[in-house]
Amino acid sequence: MNPGDIKKILYTADDLATIVDDLAARINADYAGERLLVVCILKGSSIFMADLVRRLDVDVDLDFMIVSSYGSAAQSSGKVDIKSDLRTDIAGRHVLILEDILDSGLTLSRLRDELATRNPASLEIAALIVKDVHREHAIEPKYVGTECPNEFVVGYGLDYNEMYRHLPYVGVLDEKVYS
Ligand code: XMP
Ligand code: MG
Repeated sequence: MNPGDIKKILYTADDLATIVDDLAARINADYAGERLLVVCILKGSSIFMADLVRRLDVDVDLDFMIVSSYGSAAQSSGKVDIKSDLRTDIAGRHVLILEDILDSGLTLSRLRDELATRNPASLEIAALIVKDVHREHAIEPKYVGTECPNEFVVGYGLDYNEMYRHLPYVGVLDEKVYS
């Protein structure tokens, strides 16, 4: 990466630690005494997952998915394209989907609908960042870390062309990188 690629830091590593602490406290309270299956949506949620689960004191299983949406964003009838599925049978399980950033909600709404057909005992979403945009696809994560302005952000798992995922902070990508 080049100096100046990140226009502005939105959340420092310390800010993110506080955000994840707060999410973990709520999840620990809500799932006390239960066994939780955490579903990490690769690759963006990997760093969020690693930090979150180390703060959980309930019993946790981990599984991973790779998904993308096909069909235009305007077609809410489209299905989610599962490029790599869970290894776990989620029937009867308490499932928590981890998402790095919620934008239009398209991918996550389709994924939620797909997983709901597998009869989990419960199915909730934790989104680290929710973009402040009008969402055509109704989706209400039970757990929201923080809301960010409608700009393209990278770092802490989030990428642009696979770059910047390793940054310990979340920042706004300068337009010159993609224009
Ligand atoms: P939808 O629109 O389906 O998209 O909610 C969610 C997915 O789009 C990616 N996304 C971003 N990735 N910086 C990123 O690095 C962003 O600002 C951003 N906005 C959306 C992300 O993969 C997310 O899962
Ligand atoms: Mg991405």
